[in-house]
Amino acid sequence: MTHRMALLASVAPALLLALVSVPLTTLANQTEAQQLLSPPQKAASTVTDSARGVAHPELWPAAKSKGLVDAKTEAFVTSLMTHMSLEDKVGQMIQADISTVTPADLALYPLGSILAGGDSAPAGGDDRAGADRWVETASAFRTASLAERPGHVAIPILFGIDAVHGNNNVVGATLFPHNVGLGAAHDPALVRRIGVATAQETAAAGIDWAFGPTLAVPQDHRWGRTYEGYSEDPEIVRQYAGEIVQGLQGQPGAGQALQHGHVAASAKHFLGDGGTTGGIDQGDTDVSEDELIHVHGAGYPVAINAGVMTVMASFSSWQGAKMHGNKSLLTDVLKGRMGFDGFVVGDWNGHGQVPGCTAESCPAAILAGVDMIMVPNDWKALFTNTVAQVKSGEIPLARIDDAVRRILRVKAKLGLFEAARPFELKDGVIGNAEHRALAREAVRKSLVLLKNNDRVLPLKAKSHVLVVGEAAGDIGRQAGGWTLSWQGTGNRNSDFPGGQSIYDGIRQAVTSAGGTVDLSVDGTFITKPDVAVVVFGETPYAEFQGDIPSLEFQAGDKQDLALLKKLKAQGIPVVSVFLSGRPLWVNPEINASDAFVAAWFPGSEGGGVADVLVGDAQGHPRFDFTGKLSYSWPRTAAQATLNRARTPYDPLFAYGYGLRYADARATLVPQLSEVSGVDAAAANIDTYFVKGRTPAPWGFVLRQGAAAVPVLGDGTAAEMAGALALRPVDAGGVQGAGRQLSWTGKGEAAIAITGSTLDLTRQANGALSLQVDYRVDEAPAGTVWLASGTGPGTPGALDLTSVLKAAPVGQWQTLKIKLSCFKKAGADLSHVTTPFALSTGGTLRLSLATVRLSADPAGAICPGH
Ligand code: BGC
Ligand code: BGC
Repeated sequence: MTHRMALLASVAPALLLALVSVPLTTLANQTEAQQLLSPPQKAASTVTDSARGVAHPELWPAAKSKGLVDAKTEAFVTSLMTHMSLEDKVGQMIQADISTVTPADLALYPLGSILAGGDSAPAGGDDRAGADRWVETASAFRTASLAERPGHVAIPILFGIDAVHGNNNVVGATLFPHNVGLGAAHDPALVRRIGVATAQETAAAGIDWAFGPTLAVPQDHRWGRTYEGYSEDPEIVRQYAGEIVQGLQGQPGAGQALQHGHVAASAKHFLGDGGTTGGIDQGDTDVSEDELIHVHGAGYPVAINAGVMTVMASFSSWQGAKMHGNKSLLTDVLKGRMGFDGFVVGDWNGHGQVPGCTAESCPAAILAGVDMIMVPNDWKALFTNTVAQVKSGEIPLARIDDAVRRILRVKAKLGLFEAARPFELKDGVIGNAEHRALAREAVRKSLVLLKNNDRVLPLKAKSHVLVVGEAAGDIGRQAGGWTLSWQGTGNRNSDFPGGQSIYDGIRQAVTSAGGTVDLSVDGTFITKPDVAVVVFGETPYAEFQGDIPSLEFQAGDKQDLALLKKLKAQGIPVVSVFLSGRPLWVNPEINASDAFVAAWFPGSEGGGVADVLVGDAQGHPRFDFTGKLSYSWPRTAAQATLNRARTPYDPLFAYGYGLRYADARATLVPQLSEVSGVDAAAANIDTYFVKGRTPAPWGFVLRQGAAAVPVLGDGTAAEMAGALALRPVDAGGVQGAGRQLSWTGKGEAAIAITGSTLDLTRQANGALSLQVDYRVDEAPAGTVWLASGTGPGTPGALDLTSVLKAAPVGQWQTLKIKLSCFKKAGADLSHVTTPFALSTGGTLRLSLATVRLSADPAGAICPGH
């Protein structure tokens, strides 16, 4: 496949965007969304508006922290605190990100904690660094925190990181399946063992604290963090919460966790993160108190009883009240009724979202019960302001003392005051064979077999297998978000030493039994295979960048479906291995597959897929499928809030579904409806022009001032007299797959939507870029502008002249422009109607092959910078 074709095929699938103003509520499920999981509770019906967001602790289950409080530790903490200054105390309550704080800063700002955010690099600045760099960073901060200074009590600093599927920021670490896959395994003991391994690999990198487990119970699968939750059902979360906590931390009260290779855990995000309306990240969970307790709260009493040392507050709101400011929940329920004796950490600038607060100042969050504030950048100002607020009496000293006692208690129980760290850089811990075998076992157990008509699976190892798709040989694609980078993008196989792709696992299993394997990204082959295994699915994402408007997979451009159909049309049995962070509507893809496996985001050990899919030489299974859905699989793309606890319940594959080899004969999956059930226009927010089509709701339009000529219908030509013309041309060897734009006067060629707008503001904070595959046919005579924004006259247009002048005439090129560049240049990305508008006043001839959003940051630029 040529490079150019690779570009054309590389259309990263539907990402990602929280779409605000498109009328999603018209999409169905309104009634469904209104149905509560359980009948509203007495107290809820008497809630008045002024009482919204205020919890009643007596309704909540009682719990009690185990192993955190004992007389000796408390006496030790008391003795430290008697000598601490106010500055020492406030410092303990502040956590800065390592991208903005240095060890030297600790001399002036005695901070209690540092974190490494998903995109933050250790010493040396390389965020694809191995454990030694992380240990170097950790020990530099530790040493600085322990430096003696007159009038100051030296206290070891606590270092936290998002070790959420293994110690996933460190090159060479074992990467376990994301929680969505572990939920399908229905195996609490497995989750505990994963906790143990993750803790060891975290401690070996010098890090003390994992920001997990996520105990969210995601209710709307459009939410980009669905994969961080084990299940839509509170029962599995309840079963897993204590196991993962004790795996990470060890037995409560066993003493000095770090010396035994354990780390502190953080149950997150308290509370209701998985219940936001519309599945919007950081949104409002507008449910009854009963539902908050029994659905979203299910894992917390268990985690507290298991000794969890920290709880992270949620960005989201409950009944309109931001969690970081909710005293009734953080203090009265969590620390009171639920007896939590550890400390509450805030989320990334989450305090700044409380009314009346900024990232730099937020007495309200401290008063509500947040003990340690995660303030990645603005920690200096927060420190100074908080000290002043205690001095002025705005924050009572007693609240500070309570917070500091909790933090020091955790530090003591964790073993931070002991010098010994036997696991730090210990040989053979990070990515060791035992951990990888465990991850591989977890992969096997997480796979869910949705369809196996004609018993295509297990594959007979002694056959010729074609492994297809760009994800097949790509470990980054199978690892998902929170992998080396925040969004999990930008990774190459060389970033995963010791890891194995799904393709490589299949190759090993098949060839060792005497069969043969070919890898083909685009499905072409020389020798006709006995069977094709196509690996495809969602590209990696994290947090709000994974929010989607509907459950339709590849709403704008079903390129993987085309691949499946192409193989099927040649009479080749097709096995689909689907990578995703949630169940998605894939009826057309299931129809085009003989067998269909939900593989979630399995992590670094792709070999686990082959263990189950590839049988022995004769085709007898080596391992059976045991995974069962922990999320209901939708029948239409509109069933975003499908849940077995809610009626009507009409899934395609119910919660708990999952075929085994023995019963596959009885369960033929029939031809499925290919009507998605959603307005296609509302589902496609990222694919504007591809393969000769402008998928709905997008269309080309030629403009000159206020005059506009819409291009009606794909494949048609159009002209704005005296300005410019558009006509179909070939691209990538495909007839009509491109559009040529020819300027003769001043005009703008745009791709636009009418009737609604997109809010891309928050996406512009991330790594998303506008990707344009283009060819200059005749170099520009004048200045050329590219804009993304609100349509004619939008501010923030970028000067593209030098890029186009430098491009070789007649050759296809890819240009990626970070959305943040448009924002920085002044574009309003909150009401986007025109994601692409190219204008010039001079002559220019240019052809387009692709215009879309891309999640892959590789090669993205800011023109003019
Ligand atoms: C996420 C947390 C995470 C934190 C630190 C936040 O944006 O919501 O889950 O632990 O960042 O990276
Ligand atoms: C950080 C993440 C954090 C996110 C919050 C990113 O820049 O790397 O750790 O969760 O910002 O929006």
